[in-house]
Amino acid sequence: MANPEIMDKVVSLCKRRGFIFQSSEIYGGLNSCWDYGPLGVELKRNVKEAWWRSVVYERDNVYGQDASILMHPEVWRASGHVEGFSDPLVDCKKCKRRFREDHLADKSKCPECGGELTESRQFNLMFKTFMGPIEDTASVVYMRPETAQGIFVNFLNVVNTMRAKLPFGIAQIGKAFRNEITPGNFTFRTREFEQMEIEFFVKPGTDDEWLEFWKNERFNWYLRYGMTKERLRLRQHDKDELAHYAKDCYDVEYEFPFGWSELEGIANRTDFDLTQHQTFSKKNLTYFEEESKSRFIPYVIEPSAGADRSTLAFLVDSYCEEEERVVLRLHPKLAPIKAAIFPLMRKDGHPEKAQEIERMLRPHFNVEYDETASIGKRYRRQDEIGTPYCVTVDNETMENDTVTVRERDSMEQVRIPMSGLLPMLLERLNAEKKPA
Ligand code: GAP
Repeated sequence: MANPEIMDKVVSLCKRRGFIFQSSEIYGGLNSCWDYGPLGVELKRNVKEAWWRSVVYERDNVYGQDASILMHPEVWRASGHVEGFSDPLVDCKKCKRRFREDHLADKSKCPECGGELTESRQFNLMFKTFMGPIEDTASVVYMRPETAQGIFVNFLNVVNTMRAKLPFGIAQIGKAFRNEITPGNFTFRTREFEQMEIEFFVKPGTDDEWLEFWKNERFNWYLRYGMTKERLRLRQHDKDELAHYAKDCYDVEYEFPFGWSELEGIANRTDFDLTQHQTFSKKNLTYFEEESKSRFIPYVIEPSAGADRSTLAFLVDSYCEEEERVVLRLHPKLAPIKAAIFPLMRKDGHPEKAQEIERMLRPHFNVEYDETASIGKRYRRQDEIGTPYCVTVDNETMENDTVTVRERDSMEQVRIPMSGLLPMLLERLNAEKKPA
C-alpha cells in the first residue's frame, strides 16, 4: 500500500487532534524531534504497557529494569559502538545535501540534483556530552544509542539478586539517541526515540530454538493488538546484513505508506556482549549451572522493538476513511480514551446526569465528557481519535436511568440500565479481541 497520501493524512490528524506535535514548534521546530500531545502520550503509554504486560507480567522468567541513560564510557568501547557504530556519509558538492551512502541506489550521483558526491566517510552516530564542569576528553560521556548495554552490565546483579536461572530475560523500556544522518518519515526515524528491549539469556546450543520462539512471540504480539496480518511480515537478514555481533536476525516489518520497514529486530547476539564486558571490566560474567556443575557465558536472544515505530504503525494501521467519517480502529487496550460521555442536550438535567456517569467511570479508565456541538459531530470527533465507546444521556435516561452505548466500529447502539454500564464497559475493554 505504498500511498504517501495516507501518511500525510495521519500526520495531519496527529497534529489536529493532539497526538503528535513538532518539537519546539513556536521556534520553527527542531528537525526530527517530536512531542507527544495529550492523546499521543496515552496511546504510546498503552503500547508500552501492552508490551511490558506481555513480556514481563505474563512470564515467570523475564525481569524488568530501568538503567540510566548515561553510562561509563568504557561500556561503549566494549560494545563496539565507539569503534564501529557509524554510517557512511556523503555530501553533494552541488546542492550540499547529505545522504547515507548505503541508502543510495546510484552511489555515483546526488539523487536530488544529479550533482557529484564527495568520497564517503564514516560518521559515528553516538551523541557526546560532558560529565561535570570541565569540557575535556576525560569527561566525555555518551547518550546511549541502545538500551541493551544497560541490561548486559546488570546481568550479574539480576542473577545474584533474583536467583535467576537460565533461560531468563531482562526487559527494559527507555530512551535512546542516535545522530542519524537522514532522519525522516515522521516519527519513524528520529534522533531521540524509545526502545523496548529484552535480552534473553540462554544456554549455548539452545539459542536457535529460542530465536525461533521469540520471533513467533513478537510477531504475534502485533497481531494480538489488532495489526493487519497482511501488512506484517518477518524477514530474515542476509548474511552480509547482519550486525557484527549477530549470528542470525529476523526483522518484523510493517507495510507503511512509504513501504515495508522495520518495527523490531530479533537477533541472536551469541555471547558477544557478555564476553566483551568480561574482557573490558575484568569481572567474571560467567554463569554457574548447578545441574552440569559447569561455568559458561550465556548466549543472548534479543527482541528489540521501537516504541515510537510501533505507535506509528498502530496509528497508520487503524486509520480508516469511510463515507461519512474518519475512524481510528484502534484496539480498545491501545485507545487513548476508552469512553466518551455525552448529554444529548445542555438542559433538562442531562449534563448533571452525564457528569454523574463520568464520575462513576473515571476511576476505572480514561474518559472524556463532551457537551459541545451536535451529537453527530461529537461521535465523529471520538471516532477520529479511536474512542471505542460513547455513552449518551437523553430524556429516557431521566425517566428510567438507562443510557445508550454506541460502539465505534459497528456504530451499533444498545440501551442499557446505568447500573450495568461499568461492568459492561470493563468486560469489553478487557476483552482481548477487537470488537467485530
Ligand atoms: N539493541 C539492538 C538495537 O538497538 P536496532 O535495530 O538498531 O537494534 C532496534 O534498533 C529498534 O529500535 C528498531 O527496530 C526500531 O524500532 C528502533 N529504532 C532504531 N533506530 C531508530 C530511530 N532512529 N528512530 C526510531 N526508532 C528507532
